[in-house]
Amino acid sequence: MVNQKGGVGKTTVALGLAATAWSRNIDCLVIDLDPQANATTGLGVWDAPFSVDQALAEERPGAISGLRVPSGWPNEGGRPPSVVPATPALAAREPQLLTDPIGANDRLAIALEGVRHDVIIIDCPPSLGLLTVNGLFAADRALVVTEPGAWASDGVGQILRTVHRVSNRRQSPLEIAGVAVNRLGRTRDARYWDQQLRSDHGDIVLPAVHMRAAVPEASAGSLPIHALGARPGAQEAAAEFDNLFDLVMTSEVAHGV
Ligand SMILES: Nc1ncnc2c1ncn2[C@@H]1O[C@H](COP(=O)(O)OP(=O)(O)O)[C@@H](O)[C@H]1O
Ligand SMILES: [Mg+2]
Repeated sequence: MVNQKGGVGKTTVALGLAATAWSRNIDCLVIDLDPQANATTGLGVWDAPFSVDQALAEERPGAISGLRVPSGWPNEGGRPPSVVPATPALAAREPQLLTDPIGANDRLAIALEGVRHDVIIIDCPPSLGLLTVNGLFAADRALVVTEPGAWASDGVGQILRTVHRVSNRRQSPLEIAGVAVNRLGRTRDARYWDQQLRSDHGDIVLPAVHMRAAVPEASAGSLPIHALGARPGAQEAAAEFDNLFDLVMTSEVAHGV
């Protein structure tokens, strides 16, 4: 989940896709790369004794395997994902990574060597700094998350160029899973920017996730949206994340860069 802009829904989409995995009993790992740790708390993890920072501090293959905790999502009705938590201390890692004379782009990729899950979701911070770059070096594909707001399309273009540059430096290409348009409201303005994204970036723009009160309620309650039951809008939101999950995880829709 990547976008240098904050507040567009990276974490929300990460949690929505993890909720789909939960509801389908899919073995999922969420890695929280954002010092704000919103994905960590959205998954019901507090006071973890370690964080993803440990994996970034050293160059150790498989380090992630010792940094996973079970999420606090319910055992009933689904399969809780595992979590590699973030902490605010992670913010201090980025300047330290910059001092590595041979580069520290691939610490997370190395830490993930040999770590196996059906799905691994990496929630990136709102910048194109070394934390995000580590996410891009570790991922098979990048899902750009945006909201249909002013100049969103330009921001998406900038990320796509970054993805391209990272891809060129990797042994295997980094694919574009698509552009997820999140928090689409019913205003004319939102529809205008949504159309703009679709005309600028074509078929990589995926069906929108609409703005619904149930979505932040699920995050705040540390529950998968699929577990909100009859709460208005919850089922519709869950269905949109299910559809997104199918599109993003299916290799046919992935676009080489
Ligand atoms: N589809 C949605 N409907 C309603 N609120 C949303 C939706 N997506 C995100 N939000 C809210 O918008 C805010 C920013 O989302 P967040 O996922 O934290 O963005 P990011 O991770 O990109 O910074 C949060 O308060 C979140 O609950
Ligand atoms: Mg976030």
